[in-house]
Amino acid sequence: MAGSPQSCVLLTHAKIFVSHSCALPESMQVSPSFRIKLLTLPFLFLAGCGGGGSTQTGPPPGFTLSISPGSLLVSQTTTSAPVTITATPAGGFLGNVAINVAGLPAGVTSSPSFPLSLAAGNSQQVTFTAGSSVPRANYTLNFSGTGGSASSSAVLTLTVSGAPITSATGNFKQQVIYQIVTDRFFDGDTTNDDPALSPGLFDSTHANFQAYWGGDFAGIQQQMAYLAGMGVTAIWISPPVDNIDKSTAAAGSPPSAPYHGYWAHDMMCLEEHFGDATNPCDWTAFDNMVTAAHQNGIRIIVDFAANDTNPYDAGEQGQLLNGGKPFASYINDPPAPGNFFHHNPTVTDFTDFYQLQYYTLDDLADLNQDHPAVDSYLKNAVLQFMNHKVDGFRLDAVKHVTWGWEYSLANVAFTASPTFLFGEWNQGGTSDPVYPASHKFANHSGIALLDFPLANAFRDVFGSPNGGDFHEIDSTLTTEANDFASPNDLVTFFDSHDLPRLLSVYNNQNRVNEALTLLLACRGIPVVLYGDEQYLHNDTNNGSQNGGDPYNRVWMSTFKTKSPAYSLINLMANLRQSNPALAYGNSMQRWINSDVYILERQFNSEVVLIAVNKSETTSYSITGLFTSLPPGSYSDYLNGLMGGFSVSVTNGGGNNPVTNFNLLPHTAAVWQSNAAATGPQAGSVGPLLGQSGVPVTIAGQGFGAATGKVMFGTTAAAINSWSDSTVSLTVPPVAPGSYQVQLVTSSGAKANTLPFTVLTGPLIPVTFTVNSVPVFSAGSTLYLTGNVVELGAGVVNTDAAIGPLLQPPNSNPATSWFIDASVPAGGTIQFQFAIIASDGTVTMEPGAPHPYTVPTSGVGSISVNW
Ligand code: NOJ
Repeated sequence: MAGSPQSCVLLTHAKIFVSHSCALPESMQVSPSFRIKLLTLPFLFLAGCGGGGSTQTGPPPGFTLSISPGSLLVSQTTTSAPVTITATPAGGFLGNVAINVAGLPAGVTSSPSFPLSLAAGNSQQVTFTAGSSVPRANYTLNFSGTGGSASSSAVLTLTVSGAPITSATGNFKQQVIYQIVTDRFFDGDTTNDDPALSPGLFDSTHANFQAYWGGDFAGIQQQMAYLAGMGVTAIWISPPVDNIDKSTAAAGSPPSAPYHGYWAHDMMCLEEHFGDATNPCDWTAFDNMVTAAHQNGIRIIVDFAANDTNPYDAGEQGQLLNGGKPFASYINDPPAPGNFFHHNPTVTDFTDFYQLQYYTLDDLADLNQDHPAVDSYLKNAVLQFMNHKVDGFRLDAVKHVTWGWEYSLANVAFTASPTFLFGEWNQGGTSDPVYPASHKFANHSGIALLDFPLANAFRDVFGSPNGGDFHEIDSTLTTEANDFASPNDLVTFFDSHDLPRLLSVYNNQNRVNEALTLLLACRGIPVVLYGDEQYLHNDTNNGSQNGGDPYNRVWMSTFKTKSPAYSLINLMANLRQSNPALAYGNSMQRWINSDVYILERQFNSEVVLIAVNKSETTSYSITGLFTSLPPGSYSDYLNGLMGGFSVSVTNGGGNNPVTNFNLLPHTAAVWQSNAAATGPQAGSVGPLLGQSGVPVTIAGQGFGAATGKVMFGTTAAAINSWSDSTVSLTVPPVAPGSYQVQLVTSSGAKANTLPFTVLTGPLIPVTFTVNSVPVFSAGSTLYLTGNVVELGAGVVNTDAAIGPLLQPPNSNPATSWFIDASVPAGGTIQFQFAIIASDGTVTMEPGAPHPYTVPTSGVGSISVNW
């Protein structure tokens, strides 16, 4: 029919167009390529065309706008994969469609840009590019198309994630950690649900809480947009190492499986339920997960248990493999000193330092880290994870591993690459008998700790109808600020896989929201337990607690992105990126009663003020509130999500009055001021200690783009990388000791100093034994001291010296004592023992110090007489 004028009848809505040339109204003009399609499908679009003018009824002309795929993940500083926008015509619609978009966040651009014109029936590919400071979030983009009187719309969920991670860091203070029990999160690969290597441990119905339920590394990878949209910047995964293949339950009982990951049988390989079903030593799924996380600005923290292997009394009886080969057998363990395991009773006295470190935790075969093969096995396992680009480690049960040995583990990790280590030192509050040992451990090992005292305070305050008293949180913050060298490195939480979820303790979602707001604003690096953002909980009593282990390890049954908690986490995680007061600032209580806590965080001129009223019923009139926020008006950073509102601040010469306000029950508000840095401000050094050659990260702001210097005394460190907020450097060859490290910009501006201890050299664990010690009075304790910084450099007090020394119960002879300490490899050190009385009086071991030449590698031991 081309070339011969014909008449055609087009149906559009209720109108009939009659055209002898078959020309189309402007809104229905088509592209040449589309005309060809029209010619091949005349019956669809050209009803009656050339056919004698009969009119048929049908759908009115229009089009449907569609977008494929309907969701998109794009990292800051990158360009997305394309989405395809299509205008599918119907009812003979033939025109152009003008397409516009609403909801595109500032800092995100598209190619091509909007509005754009699309001929009906055509498709257009569009990419999006996210700038470096677009908040991490899910954005709903509403596309509207109009053509003539027809219109259609389509929706795209655009998730902007963090910029791809290209380097390791020792600074985690800006992170928000999301804790995942891998088995309970998302089943991304059904081929590993019930592997032939370890069959029968899987329960697809999720009824048996002690079985595997299907979650895996692929599942975490597939939920990356959910995680990134929540704003979290790190995920802590349950131990991924290969666990025992057999149930520990009695024959005929439902299986009891190591779905949690804490029953390792090969730390050099991965659990087949989480990765490759047929080959536990295949790292592909793990690597893919790490790569996907890094692509989206999310760091990976691996939970690593160095204390023990698996139950000695069931399943595989504690045995340990090395890359699939036999390595250590608990039931055929050589006698001391060649023993791979300690064979001691179960810990019953959690205040006895010997029991804590050398007894058996629950029924888990307790590793002897001082055996040279065990020492290198554990360190190699950690290094292997670092080679697979893991960013940090949560060290399980650090209170129960040999403390002195752990210093050398940390040193090995810190020496290999910048990383962040935090340990599980389970304890009550700051009056716990082992609390002093916990901060001594953190301050000298460089291993940060999970903040159990603060977690318990949070649970007391938020976990009952009337709740506890905010003074408990406040005094915990004050005490820990005095005791920990780097309180901002403490890893904070209120829920964990070991505790009943807060909602099982007190089923009130407002309280979860309030606890989250405060947790994410508090000093320290916050951890959110998976599922808390969905208010998940299962309150089944486990025999001692409602919702206790394993009922707290719920299935992640929903991934909705609209809950208040999800939004709160998102806002506060973004605030931690944009306002350094949360990561680096100090803490100041500004107003308090049992129900209300108003906390201020300040780093130089950046300030965040957080107010929470946890009461169910009582409003409080807040008068006499002062702040460091500069004079001005502040809207609630949470946009009223938790009932917050604007406040005004007037000039008080730094201690600025806030206008009085009424804080209603269950309200949380956040006000913040984020002035640009006027000079270099250092907020973090990590790790806190290391020998010459160890990589160290200094973080803060205002460092400038051009490389400056970092001074250790008068010696400048080699700089590995430099940006306005993060500098990576290498500890220079300076004398061991304490330094106030100072960053100097390229233009000579000096930042505040930060303390750092330069160690003598790489650390080796050594067992020091001293015999014939005179009997000393109860209340006094025995310590190891020496001439190197690792042994206190001659300073003899209970903090600087190593100890107290230990004795097994009924030690024979009763005058022998020992302690494990990590000392510099290869050098000759001088050491000596000292008895320190409860009033601090020191009785030194008489005579000259003992010399000892430390092995260059492996482990050491030395025994001397007093
Ligand atoms: C503490 C862990 O958090 C817990 O879940 C585990 O069972 C024990 N350590 C033993 O590894």
